[in-house]
Amino acid sequence: MTTIENPTAHGSGNAATDKFKSERVTADTSVERAAAIYKDVLSAFKDIIHKHEVTYDEYRVLKQWMIDVGEYGEWPLWLDVFVEHEVEEVHYSRKHFSGTKGSIEGPYYVPNAPKLPAECTMPMREKDVAAAPLIFKGQVTDLDGNGLGGATVELWHADEDGFYSQFAPGIPEWNLRGTIVTDEDGNFEITTLKPAPYQIPNDGPTGWFIKSYGGHPWRPAHLHLMVSAPGRNSVTTQLYFQGGDWVDNDVATATKPELILDPQPNADGVAEVTYNFALDPEA
Ligand code: BEZ
Ligand code: FE
Repeated sequence: MTTIENPTAHGSGNAATDKFKSERVTADTSVERAAAIYKDVLSAFKDIIHKHEVTYDEYRVLKQWMIDVGEYGEWPLWLDVFVEHEVEEVHYSRKHFSGTKGSIEGPYYVPNAPKLPAECTMPMREKDVAAAPLIFKGQVTDLDGNGLGGATVELWHADEDGFYSQFAPGIPEWNLRGTIVTDEDGNFEITTLKPAPYQIPNDGPTGWFIKSYGGHPWRPAHLHLMVSAPGRNSVTTQLYFQGGDWVDNDVATATKPELILDPQPNADGVAEVTYNFALDPEA
């Protein structure tokens, strides 16, 4: 994986690109389906060019910008901000899922995070311990509410400065990343910190793109999760915080009403919240 020297779009972008490239992906798309999709993509491009009377200067700027996105390693970032949510919605609806709603994976998932028991504290530094603590508990079940013992809850999230381990410098490799294994009834109880809203890296071509249309680069505070159990559909999702900044105006348009947490102080004054995951049968 790329060594990240600075917390820049270029640094995190290159790390995300390297991670993505390390798995060579394929899809079993037929020639007919590929032809239909590409034809529609090109036709949409054609319509936009005519509708807006796109100029040669604009066309050349687009070409330059696309080259820059590649050179800065920002394709995973740009695509996951502006395109992934549509693919995720189609994925959920075409399989007729009815369990916990999904949300985008984003570019910062890393598989094989250290296994942790059902009741655990996420790997964190002293600086993270000093941040706002959060107790996040719940149960993983099937669609009938039967607990799924030995399910895995992969959790990863940013620190309070908005940085993800392995995508920003100076953070221990597995900081705020873990694979939690549920107890025999499917329960888990995780102590972590409440992440802050954060700006997607915006000092590179993704940021220039956002500025060019007068947008903002903010995502609401969120936890990332991938929940799996044998014979069940894995769900990749995110959980957000009620009333939090940018929940209604996420640059990645990845929030959903079903995915909002409302933690309350427990007897010790620590913010605590329960969220249960229902997994569809394997599709
Ligand atoms: C994220 O959730 O961390 C994320 C999603 C899309 C693009 C960049 C980051
Ligand atoms: Fe994130």
